[in-house]
Amino acid sequence: MATAPELLGSVPELIRPMRDADVADVVAIERASYQFPWSEGIFRDCLRVGYTCRVATMGKQVAGYGVMSVGAGEAHILNLCIAEAYRCHGLGRRLLALLIERASAASMKEAFLEVRPSNTAAIRLYLAHGFEQVGMRRGYYQAAGGREDAAVLRLGLRTARGRS
Ligand SMILES: CC(C)(COP(=O)(O)OP(=O)(O)OC[C@H]1O[C@@H](n2cnc3c(N)ncnc32)[C@H](O)[C@@H]1OP(=O)(O)O)[C@@H](O)C(=O)NCCC(=O)NCCS
Repeated sequence: MATAPELLGSVPELIRPMRDADVADVVAIERASYQFPWSEGIFRDCLRVGYTCRVATMGKQVAGYGVMSVGAGEAHILNLCIAEAYRCHGLGRRLLALLIERASAASMKEAFLEVRPSNTAAIRLYLAHGFEQVGMRRGYYQAAGGREDAAVLRLGLRTARGRS
């Protein structure tokens, strides 16, 4: 049987809206990726309220997902995750670029996200896309030894009137 990285070269990759039927696969990736994962109910709520929820698929397999809210001129990237077997092949970058594109298309002026300062892979990805740190939320995240801070990152978005 082919492994995930082998499949990356041979199976068409697609980013499409998340559906209810994807939630079980998404939750499995979430649980394997985070020490304090979102519950199934949170993903279902995000779909129900109409957040921008996308999955990256390899063939029929869900390989990753992104969730974003938009409103009042601001996009908030709430979750971005690639299954471990599919990481480091550019999927995270493509999913993030698509979310940013959707936020610009919805005329949002800026995008925000929170990230653990210890998450160097994600921070490198966000900085490479032009995000800049604009703040720190003290004790924002649950952590094994208590709480962990969150770095707040911002990206000015390109709208019809230019970058904010
Ligand atoms: C962060 C995450 C989404 C990146 O997805 P990915 O598909 O592996 O990333 P890509 O292959 O698209 O890499 C894009 C860039 O991210 C950075 N990056 C990704 N993995 C990295 C790693 N292990 N170490 C350092 N930088 C890394 C690099 O800047 C990379 O660009 P480069 O290849 O030109 O160096 C993925 O590691 C993940 O799902 N992690 C667990 C969930 C998580 O922490 N999400 C973010 C919550 S804020």
